[in-house]
Amino acid sequence: MAMTQDDMKRAVAQAAITYVPNDCIVGVGTGSTANFFIDELAKIKGKIRGAVASSEASAKRLQGHGIEVLSLNDADDLPVYVDGADEITKHMHMVKGGGGALTREKIVAAASKKFICVCDESKLVDVLGKFPLPIEVIPMARSYIAREVVKLGGQPKLREGFITDNGNIILDVHNLQIMNPVELETLLNHLPGVVTNGLFARRGADVLLLGTPNGVKTLTA
Ligand code: 5RP
Repeated sequence: MAMTQDDMKRAVAQAAITYVPNDCIVGVGTGSTANFFIDELAKIKGKIRGAVASSEASAKRLQGHGIEVLSLNDADDLPVYVDGADEITKHMHMVKGGGGALTREKIVAAASKKFICVCDESKLVDVLGKFPLPIEVIPMARSYIAREVVKLGGQPKLREGFITDNGNIILDVHNLQIMNPVELETLLNHLPGVVTNGLFARRGADVLLLGTPNGVKTLTA
């Protein structure tokens, strides 16, 4: 039987478990692939101390499995962070935030030693930007940031009816061809009112576990 996208997500989630050391606190991402990882984590929950979640949704799912969720402030050492991506290049630069959890994802990823990205092969691209780039913005800065983004050649669209876990809005920026992700990430970070942008390039993934119909491929930075 042909492998479905969910089969590939499950396979990479299983592969990610091998990167989780015994007795550690695990950084956990958000999204459908991260959900598969949470379900795999539940099978080894006796071997870990707990998890730090990158969203309320992931925290709920972890707790539903009886896995302790700790605040990042109570977790001194996070050896691994496991999360999906909306797009990733072979240079390990990513666009994330399709689920709107980019800010907490970036914080937990930054606090972790190793970023393990788990994706099916549809996420691997040559150039980032086909997937609209999410930017979390303080609500009062919405129009200002939208104008700045237009100057950069993008087409911002407000994510209707969506408020982040941090009480902010998301602008999804269409029509970008991101040739220099590190530069664009830095530039957007410096616009007042931007909380976080969905480029994860300054700190990319360390390991990419890519689900393919022929099994899981491992790429490293
Ligand atoms: C959420 C994210 C997710 O990692 C990204 O959207 C991928 O999700 P999925 O595994 O469902 O394709 O950044 O904010």
